[in-house]
Amino acid sequence: MENILVDVQVNAAIITINRPKQLNALNKRTIEEINHALSTLSKNREVRGIIITGAGDKAFVAGADIKEFAHFSKEEGKELARSGQEKLFDFIEHYPKPIIAAVNGFALGGGLELAMACHMRIASENARMGLPEVSLGLIPGYGGTQRLPQLIGKGKAIELITTAKMIDAKEALQYKLVNYVVSLDELLPKASEIIKSISHNSPTAITAAIKSINVGFDHRENGFEKEINEFGNCFGSEDFVEGTTAFMEKRKPNF
Ligand code: CAA
Repeated sequence: MENILVDVQVNAAIITINRPKQLNALNKRTIEEINHALSTLSKNREVRGIIITGAGDKAFVAGADIKEFAHFSKEEGKELARSGQEKLFDFIEHYPKPIIAAVNGFALGGGLELAMACHMRIASENARMGLPEVSLGLIPGYGGTQRLPQLIGKGKAIELITTAKMIDAKEALQYKLVNYVVSLDELLPKASEIIKSISHNSPTAITAAIKSINVGFDHRENGFEKEINEFGNCFGSEDFVEGTTAFMEKRKPNF
């Protein structure tokens, strides 16, 4: 891996995007490396959740790599968005284990889109977030026009996208764009603490919950129907037997 670091710890794996001189901008190779690391980690049963963060104390990710796409044609632009969404953004949203974005500085354009594709976001006090694409003559291409309104509501999303304005961590918390704001030192410990509490619960049920929640935002399918199906499927799992047995035996489940 050239552009990312992967650190597997107890329960959690930390993926650090490691291009600090370019403020961790997402180029094609970085997207492929994250996809590869996540694919490998999905098979590791010890890993119960993933944390994605950026190297250095200045940026989480300052966007898609502008230098890489500056001369792209219309067709190349479409392909950049399509393949990025498939390989990284949609892949993360539908990943079977919870992924937390630990936003440690600038999260702009594709960087905020990456954080929004994750299942949760925690920001450090110095974080600054925005979708400045219209200032480059673009629109967000990695799902930002869809996920920002889902997270903060349509009116505020249109304001942020059309003004290209950056918001600080406090405002992001106020808009419910992030779950918590902590100091930079507390950022990874806070994310690890959440994954630790997730690790007490059934991985099968967690995957089913992620799938059901996601379908609620996909207007092509009925979220309630999906929930009914996923709920029913849980009854066939070993984790369900262990969870209910442990409850009745008044002990902690061992998933
Ligand atoms: N792509 C490529 N390189 C980037 C980058 C990006 N998105 N953001 C920063 N860099 C590079 C800079 O070019 C600079 O490199 P050099 O030293 O080689 O010149 C280095 O990172 C440091 O950046 P700055 O000198 O600009 O740092 P600063 O502190 O003055 O400013 C900043 C920080 C406000 C974040 C500024 O770098 C900036 O505005 N970056 C671009 C943010 C942006 O527009 N992001 C959206 C990208 S488009 C997108 O993401 C499309 C999509 O949805 C698919």
